Amino acid sequence: MDPRSEVLLRQAELFDGELLLAGLPADDLLGVLPHAQGWNWHAGDQALLATRFPGRSHFDTQMPAGDYRAAVLFLPKSRELSDYLLQALASRLAGKPLYLVGEKRAGIERAAKQLEAFGRPRKLDSARHCQLWGVEVEQVPEHPDLHALAQHYSLPLSDGALEIVTLPGVFAHGRLDRGSALLLEHLDGLPSGHLLDFGCGAGVLGAALKRRYPSSELSLLDVDAFALESSRLTLARNGLEANVIAGTGIESAPEGLSAIVSNPPFHQGVHTDYQASENLLTQAKRHLLKGGELRLGPDSFRKYPPLIDRHLGPCPTLAEADGFRIYSARG
Ligand SMILES: C[S@@+](CC[C@H](N)C(=O)[O-])C[C@H]1O[C@@H](n2cnc3c(N)ncnc32)[C@H](O)[C@@H]1O
Repeated sequence: MDPRSEVLLRQAELFDGELLLAGLPADDLLGVLPHAQGWNWHAGDQALLATRFPGRSHFDTQMPAGDYRAAVLFLPKSRELSDYLLQALASRLAGKPLYLVGEKRAGIERAAKQLEAFGRPRKLDSARHCQLWGVEVEQVPEHPDLHALAQHYSLPLSDGALEIVTLPGVFAHGRLDRGSALLLEHLDGLPSGHLLDFGCGAGVLGAALKRRYPSSELSLLDVDAFALESSRLTLARNGLEANVIAGTGIESAPEGLSAIVSNPPFHQGVHTDYQASENLLTQAKRHLLKGGELRLGPDSFRKYPPLIDRHLGPCPTLAEADGFRIYSARG
């Protein structure tokens, strides 16, 4: 059991009945709380929960409809995302309790202050390096319009400006990451066919690819529902078409790809996690056509070349700047 769920279950009487668990971990909590529903935006957790508790967890950027007597938010990493989620939950909980649980090192103490917008928050428990807070919703906010919270920026590419739309919680919200910028400078000479932007975030690489290779089919894949929604907004803003795939990793990608381009994932919550990137390197070959290319970066830790060498083939460095490297390997 996730330590945050253990903290909830120390006071299980608070969590009886029709309850919404937002951002819940993929553990046994739905089994112990049989009337609770889940709201998830992580495709990996959702896949596990959907198998074990069919129909009880909803993968979406929007709060699932329902008449809940209370809700719990498992604190996400991003402050902007927790703002949106708390507002969405509080807007449907007039006079009812809203709980917030999270790890101390994830900033739960600071995040609990966000509850002050709705009433008088109280710390209910502190254990397993986590805290549980609760507030009775007295000041009911408007239901937030997610798209109105988007940030926009413009990328001056050689083939014209590209408009990027990012939503709360998405990687590099409102700005271009330095590593993505380096990769954007090195998108020439990819084999045309079916291209994949793996870990697409707001779709900055994917949109640039579709612009540069208009006759190639493009797929964008991410594990996060807010990233996928941002990618859809970015594509629409630039009049581009592509397949947007909710996936748990490279295993969710199509086969027969001519190229995979990725600024690979390296964080998950507050924990560093290279698993999705390692899987990408070890399994890319299965998804690439013979001679297809994996173009990858940035890498500042030099962790990728041994894996690429072993599973794909020789791994030349295509570019290097500010300690970052971009690699290109052929399947
Ligand atoms: C470093 S960001 C890059 C985002 C975007 N391509 C850019 O350059 O701005 C990595 C992305 O990988 C996604 N990600 C993390 N784990 C993943 C997984 N298992 N499968 C697919 N995408 C994943 C994250 O949600 C994040 O959007």
